[in-house]
Amino acid sequence: MVQSTSDAHILVSMTYASRANPDVSAKDFNEILQQAQENNAANGITGMLIFNKNYFLQTIEGPRAQINRLLYSLMADQRHHDLQVIETHELKHREWAKWSMNYASPTQDNAAIYLKYSTTIDFNPYLLSAEAASDLMRDLNAQKE
Ligand SMILES: Cc1cc2nc3c(=O)[nH]c(=O)nc-3n(C[C@H](O)[C@H](O)[C@H](O)COP(=O)(O)O)c2cc1C
Repeated sequence: MVQSTSDAHILVSMTYASRANPDVSAKDFNEILQQAQENNAANGITGMLIFNKNYFLQTIEGPRAQINRLLYSLMADQRHHDLQVIETHELKHREWAKWSMNYASPTQDNAAIYLKYSTTIDFNPYLLSAEAASDLMRDLNAQKE
């Protein structure tokens, strides 16, 4: 199959939440991130991934066919479960164009941001609206930059 990473395709963005399997460590997260960055660079996918204790929250954006293919892989990946799509939409311009996969984990500096988007004591992305999930990722990125 001829693979093109140009944006002549219909571009989509998809955001989901999932629960990390209990044995997933910070080291595993780094491996996931590295795998994501390598694959995504080859597949024309960009995005943002958050790992906070038991949860992942991720936005992936790219050609619709590639995003759907990745979704199948993600759903079969044993490192997490209960994948729940928060929202998906067509894109004119990528939000995360600069990153094959940007990321954020809890730090002292961003604790207040997670708190702002938490309705319970612990951060829980299943409780976020699509808008709040997107704002959270933007805030975390702004804090890093
Ligand atoms: C939370 C999470 C996020 C992931 N994000 C990506 C991603 O952005 N891109 C990607 O190719 N794989 C990602 N993966 C890995 C895929 O589920 C799958 O293992 C991988 O695409 C298979 O790649 P391979 O062909 O290199 O084995 C992620 C896995 C997890 C658990």
